Amino acid sequence: MAQSTGPKKRRCAVFISGNGSNLKSLIRFSKKKNSPISIVLIISDNPKAKGLKFGKIFKVPNKVFSYKNKIIAEKKIVSIIKNKQIELICLAGFMKILSKDFIKNFKGKILNIHPSLLPKYKGLNTHQRAISNSEKYSGCSVHFVNAKLDSGKIILQKKVKISKADTAKSLGKKILTQEHRLYPKAIMKVFNP
Ligand code: GRF
Repeated sequence: MAQSTGPKKRRCAVFISGNGSNLKSLIRFSKKKNSPISIVLIISDNPKAKGLKFGKIFKVPNKVFSYKNKIIAEKKIVSIIKNKQIELICLAGFMKILSKDFIKNFKGKILNIHPSLLPKYKGLNTHQRAISNSEKYSGCSVHFVNAKLDSGKIILQKKVKISKADTAKSLGKKILTQEHRLYPKAIMKVFNP
């Protein structure tokens, strides 16, 4: 009897700039039989991104693009993504802002993870801003990417309690642990609503 191959997996690219801990959790998730994605490419703007090592460990090819000229970088990225028939882009700590034209090219196909309970605390330095505002909770959000920074439709969020002793660092760590669970769950929701 022919072996079941499970559901067809969508070809996915993950964009990173730094540590890549979300990339690692996404690669692990993608290897599960019931995962709707297969990660076929890692893109980085930073040749020194620590996360690139996970590509090597899990044998996922990577491409690094210099962002000295953003227009040229994006042109090259669009071309490789079309060439590799990528169906989903997951931003995971990618520190460059995608242009409106780039986003238009992949409308509804780009996801991002952000370390706050959006619409609160868009942009950088989210944990310190939440603590300074005496918030009781912060958390993380996975959302579709549109032309406005951190503003696309929210797919899933996870709340994390801020304790009195929390610093931006300790809160960031707690939230990151939740991010690793949230991103796969959000992808499941996108493909199996
Ligand atoms: C995460 O906190 C993510 O929400 C934000 O950048 C950080 C990336 O961390 N966009 P890592 O590179 O996945 O470890």
